[in-house]
Amino acid sequence: MYNWKELLEKVNDGIAAMSFDRKPAELYAPIRYVLSMGGKRIRPVLMLMAYNLYREDVERIFSQALAIEVYHNYTLLHDDLMDRADMRRGVPTVHKKWDSNAAILSGDSMLVMAYHYMMRDCPAGKLGRVLDLFTETALEIGEGLQYDIEFERRNDVGEDEYIEMIRLKTSVLLAAALKIGAVLADAPDSEAYLLYRFGENLGLAFQLQDDYLDVYGNPEVFGKKVGGDILCNKKTYMLINAYRLADAESRDALDFWVNKADGTFNPSEKIDAVTRLYDKIGIRELCDKKIRFYFEEARRVWEQVQLSGERKGPLWDMAVSLMYRES
Ligand code: IPE
Ligand code: IPE
Ligand code: MG
Ligand code: MG
Ligand code: MG
Repeated sequence: MYNWKELLEKVNDGIAAMSFDRKPAELYAPIRYVLSMGGKRIRPVLMLMAYNLYREDVERIFSQALAIEVYHNYTLLHDDLMDRADMRRGVPTVHKKWDSNAAILSGDSMLVMAYHYMMRDCPAGKLGRVLDLFTETALEIGEGLQYDIEFERRNDVGEDEYIEMIRLKTSVLLAAALKIGAVLADAPDSEAYLLYRFGENLGLAFQLQDDYLDVYGNPEVFGKKVGGDILCNKKTYMLINAYRLADAESRDALDFWVNKADGTFNPSEKIDAVTRLYDKIGIRELCDKKIRFYFEEARRVWEQVQLSGERKGPLWDMAVSLMYRES
């Protein structure tokens, strides 16, 4: 049995060993760049950990683990372009370092590569199930990202809509990583299902926390621009609840900043002002509570997994460490 740090090392070694000796070089340079600039690698590690709940030969599914990380990184290239985000993992995003064509085209190639790795060496008899799940997940992620973008221009987004949006854009990939690991290990269907639900709840906590860190993170370690979501008027749990709980004066102030046209304000002034409104309304504590709510939900599902405490220890340790992340 492996702990998550050991599996992370294996994933990083696997990514470092990937070669892209094709032409033109300019198409593959951004792929090499994004894959070499780190990241937490949680999706491949979750997949390997789920597999390792049942089987020891984790190298058997390295290709599928790499596939999910390549897929995730593809979504980041397109997401950063859509979110006008200039920094990721402490370095310039692909569309900043190169241009938007690079983010689109290198991203597209990564999506194709992800399918290639997902199929390559897939354990016997599992390919159909894995591809069905992966494809359904990828479609859902597109749907989530579409809602996320549509919500920027809407001011009536409810909390339920937000939760469903983050379930689609983020949770399902964590859930699918775990379920694919379980399926490949021949786990009972009932447990593959529980792992999926565990991942869904963990993923909701994870995205809420991402949104929280986007406001309250430490810029030195977060790796992305703090305040980026505020500048895009992202309808996060925080903004939705700030509107819901604001008094008339704070609501007017929120309206003032949210409705101000791009280019007519100083970005850091908007970030400071909205953050101060969140502080005043008590949004920080509220969001913290919501993160812990979904983490508890994940724990309730996890407890139903019928394996020994020793077997379940490493995956649970990883989940806990995620809840204390700063980046
Ligand atoms: C970023 O994912 C996108 C979200 C779903 C929040 P991660 O926070 O896993 O990013 P990396 O891969 O560790 O950089
Ligand atoms: C996650 O949402 C989007 C993806 C599924 C790629 P964000 O837009 O909040 O992710 P970050 O903050 O840019 O990593
Ligand atoms: Mg986004
Ligand atoms: Mg983004
Ligand atoms: Mg974010």
